[in-house]
Amino acid sequence: MSGPGRARGAGSAHYQRMTKEERRASLRLLGSLLNPYTWQLIGLSIVVIVAQLASLAGPAIIAWGIDNGLPALAEGNAIPAIGAAATHILAALVAGGLMYVFIRWNMTLGQTMLYSLRKRLFLHSQRLDMKFHETYASGRTVARQTSDMDALAQLLNSGLDIMVGSVLQMVFTMVLIVSMDAPSGLVMAGLLVPATMLSVWFQKRSSVIYRQIQTNSARLISHFVETVSGIRAVKTYRRQQANGEIYAQLAEDHRQSALRSIHLFGIYQPTLRWLSSITIAAVLVVGGFRVLGGELQVGVLVALVLYARRFFQPIDEIANFYNTFQSAVAALEKISGLLAERPTVTDPKDPVELPEARGEIVFDNVSFRYQDDLPLALQPTSFRVPAGQTVAIVGSTGAGKSTIAKLMARFYDVTEGSITLDGVNIKDLDLETLTNHIVMVTQESYLFSGSVADNMAIGNPQATREEIRAAAKIIGADIFIDQLPEGFDTDVRARGGRMSAGQRQMISFGRAFLADPTVLILDEATSSLDAPTEAIVQEGLEELLGQRTSFIIAHRLSTVMIADRVLVVEDGQIIEDGTPEELISTGGQFSQLHQAWQDSLSHSELPASKQDGESDAR
Ligand SMILES: Nc1ncnc2c1ncn2[C@@H]1O[C@H](COP(=O)(O)OP(=O)(O)OP(=O)(O)O)[C@@H](O)[C@H]1O
Ligand SMILES: [Mg+2]
Repeated sequence: MSGPGRARGAGSAHYQRMTKEERRASLRLLGSLLNPYTWQLIGLSIVVIVAQLASLAGPAIIAWGIDNGLPALAEGNAIPAIGAAATHILAALVAGGLMYVFIRWNMTLGQTMLYSLRKRLFLHSQRLDMKFHETYASGRTVARQTSDMDALAQLLNSGLDIMVGSVLQMVFTMVLIVSMDAPSGLVMAGLLVPATMLSVWFQKRSSVIYRQIQTNSARLISHFVETVSGIRAVKTYRRQQANGEIYAQLAEDHRQSALRSIHLFGIYQPTLRWLSSITIAAVLVVGGFRVLGGELQVGVLVALVLYARRFFQPIDEIANFYNTFQSAVAALEKISGLLAERPTVTDPKDPVELPEARGEIVFDNVSFRYQDDLPLALQPTSFRVPAGQTVAIVGSTGAGKSTIAKLMARFYDVTEGSITLDGVNIKDLDLETLTNHIVMVTQESYLFSGSVADNMAIGNPQATREEIRAAAKIIGADIFIDQLPEGFDTDVRARGGRMSAGQRQMISFGRAFLADPTVLILDEATSSLDAPTEAIVQEGLEELLGQRTSFIIAHRLSTVMIADRVLVVEDGQIIEDGTPEELISTGGQFSQLHQAWQDSLSHSELPASKQDGESDAR
């Protein structure tokens, strides 16, 4: 209880805690959403005002009908009564028709704004660099696209109606009542005092509870997302019960805050109704006596009673609207915070053209740290890889192998020094050119929803089915793909289309082959393959590496031995650099690894090419 309980206040006070600058940023964003539609918003306001006036005319027409139409009818003249009835119907039709126009127009406009914001947010999230995505939990990005968007949608859908429509309804009604009969206005005003106090009380309490509900549901969602995305670890370590307990607690918090809200509404709305009934009764009693005294016409009294009812109708909407507004502003603040994030890895201002690349990679005194307050993950490092060389990078876990690879693919920018491709700093290439030339395949081998062929074509969207098939054949993936229920058309997410880790890797090899980059980086990309498959891929791998510059980070020495050159990385530094043979003969770290591998081979009957490589290069 202590965890969620303690932090609860933080969420509820979010709006209050927002700095001026943050609030300004969120209002600016709101402004930027509304700005392009200023004329439409003005048009909408006019529609809603006219609709209000039309519906406001109803009771006045009835009053006129009673006071003028009925006496005329008694004298045999039906025209005024019929005229009043017809005008009343007409006013109702106009009001209804305009409300229809308003709702459609308003909703359409709201959806247009949300559409552009959603798109902007998504594109922006994609553009943000790795540094951002590593620190910003994915659950939070999801919340920006879901609950925050919903909060904003509520504001856009109801904002104008309430801010213009409901407020005007109260103002117009009050003005009419006072102008028709000042004493009734006084009665209403007297009862408006407790109604206002009640609404202010409700608004204050509800905004706290409303925030609690939002915070609690956000917690619930993020715990759920975390559990589902880590379901393997949950099952492996039997975390079900512990997670279940956490979830139960969060769900209980959620239930409690929802109950508090229901309780609050349970007090507010009936009390308001009650006040409104008292007001109507008071208007009726006061007015009734005055009708008896001949000071007031009956029709006017009827109209006053009808207006008194209308006057109270929008109060709870307005009180509630403050919550909608607050949570929309809070959502806007979070969305504008996300939009304000700037990727550090960006396209250069004047990109250097590099249509054809040979593939020479040079690290010149490159050092790197992941965060300003972290130590260097890569010490100042220099090396030159001529075009076409196959380089293996080995080293113990956490040594910095992937760091080197990610720097080359420009997932991050170097802290100092420079990385050049054919003499051009990779920062001076626009990102599209860079990704055309340098491709990194990781162990993750992420498959997107779609077919096997779609997934391979990500490497080259122009590839024909023949080219895709040929690529699969070259890397040895065609055999398993043909065995899939629908071959290349098998949906990778559908039942029966589920891929093993090794199969996913083969597909991502196919993807890389089709991308045909100048420089290829394989970061433990063969580690999920079993020994026989690796033997098949090994041949394909040589095809894949072909004439291009390639970097292979691998734990299996069988893979490493096909390299022209080996870099041994330790503690963010390159400690050995040479051909496999040279390194074996100099007796350093690599030769020890190699020795251990040889020993394991001699204990095995498997031919070397099919060896799983028990002793890896870690
Ligand atoms: N995103 C990150 N943020 C902060 N530190 C990181 C990040 N990624 C890696 N590191 C740190 O940088 C160092 C080098 O990591 P790197 O991933 O390059 O190791 P590696 O040699 O690829 O190891 P492995 O063989 O386990 O994949 C490690 O100390 C690691 O903790
Ligand atoms: Mg790694």
